[in-house]
Amino acid sequence: MNAVPIPDALRETIQKYQQEHLLENWGQLDDDSRQQLLRSLQEIDFPNVASLIDLAINKSAADNLSSIAERISPLQQVVRLPQTESDKQTLQQAKQQGQAILDAGKVGAILVAGGQGSRLGFPHPKGMYPIGPVTDRSLFQIFFEQLVSLSNRHNVSIPYFIMTSDATHEETEQFLQEHNWFGYPPEDVFLFRQGKLPAVDDENGKILLTNQSEIAMSPDGHGGLLQALKKAGLIEQMQQRGIEYLFYHQVDNPSVRLCDPVMLGFHVQHESEMSTKVVTKRIPQEKVGIVAELDGVQQIIEYSDLDEELAKQKDEAGRLVYWAGNIAVHIFNRTLLEKLTQAGQSLPIHIAHKKVDYLNEKQESASPEEPNAYKFEQFIFDAIPQAKNPLVIEVDRAEEFNPVKNATGEDSPETSRTALIEQAKSWLQQAGCETHPNAAIEISPLVALSAEDILKMNLQIKQGDNEILLIPELNED
Ligand code: UD1
Repeated sequence: MNAVPIPDALRETIQKYQQEHLLENWGQLDDDSRQQLLRSLQEIDFPNVASLIDLAINKSAADNLSSIAERISPLQQVVRLPQTESDKQTLQQAKQQGQAILDAGKVGAILVAGGQGSRLGFPHPKGMYPIGPVTDRSLFQIFFEQLVSLSNRHNVSIPYFIMTSDATHEETEQFLQEHNWFGYPPEDVFLFRQGKLPAVDDENGKILLTNQSEIAMSPDGHGGLLQALKKAGLIEQMQQRGIEYLFYHQVDNPSVRLCDPVMLGFHVQHESEMSTKVVTKRIPQEKVGIVAELDGVQQIIEYSDLDEELAKQKDEAGRLVYWAGNIAVHIFNRTLLEKLTQAGQSLPIHIAHKKVDYLNEKQESASPEEPNAYKFEQFIFDAIPQAKNPLVIEVDRAEEFNPVKNATGEDSPETSRTALIEQAKSWLQQAGCETHPNAAIEISPLVALSAEDILKMNLQIKQGDNEILLIPELNED
């Protein structure tokens, strides 16, 4: 008798959905491997995966691109960067309104940190990446210190919901624990895992195994946030804490302004359910999604789905028509998250054609030379068409968007550190401090969150100082 049996109902489901090959090697597996395979099989929602396979095998990418070209039009409603005195006043009003919302303890933050960060080539969760130009502060430390600063200023607790994946969970938790949550109260931090979906063979829709006991699973995209929050009971947690607005950000941008009061203020003024920050695209080929309209409805179109001709299109003044680059910073109303997690609601599926290691006919693990599999993901920004009064706010790239994505070249640690130094210099210069052109400067979020904060400090820094460190000692014990 088998020490680890397969439940009959599971065997029947696997047969019903024609995935029997998953059990082909069962007889040769030892008990541990059987347990491992069984656990993975039990995590798969076979009816759902069957509908994804149907979508992947019958879909034509070319059709999809041409239909975007027919349906797209430029973004209509957007708060542009302030130009006039009156714009600046409006921004100040928004800021005050946002500060009042923070004071009232109605704001939480969400970080999506489940990605594998393969382009960066860093063998740990990306948040652990040492990006501080002087101290090697990690991305996580920068985010946590911003929250420490904000929660002290507003005298409130700001719950921080951090989505991880199987690939990043343990190491992230251990890293944060080792650093004593960078001084942030652990009871305000919620780590939760996103879901995963299997990769399937691009020819026959069979779920791929990477070896005899392991199914080729990958994270279900940041859109998996909705179900993951619900499953972990965190939407209720938000309700209980009186959180009404959730500030959302990605793990790769050290210049993000967490819980930005200006954004909060505009979001509330416009009675928006979901807001998005954008920057003007640097070049048509820049790898950022764009915010535009499809059939007259605001939406984000991912860079990989935007046809080159459209990306290059210019208006009469020579500006890009599709200029609004998504920096993946949003505010959600909690009630929108509740609505989107109700039964029957779901975000669209994006299908990616990728190279995935697989078990070949000889039952050996193999790495393909060409894409061999479909992977499935949901994107959180696809919630925009379901939100009332979606708002778009343009921000200054130098101040707010400076991501770490690639190992070298653009959007790499090198460009990011340079941008952080430039930003710090600009803040100091605005406060009347001269800095040496070659100085490496890092400003801790515990000291200042903006140029205005530096201005209030009455600093005296002389030309000639070649390294300026504004970092108070943080007691991690
Ligand atoms: C993303 C946006 C793009 C935007 C750009 C700005 C998508 C699909 N595209 O591109 O529109 O212009 O950022 O920097 O998001 N993540 C998870 N779980 C997953 C997948 C990703 O938590 O399953 C997280 C990552 O940890 C990261 C973020 O989502 O924090 C973005 O992931 P990534 O796939 O690197 O997005 P980009 O291609 O850079």
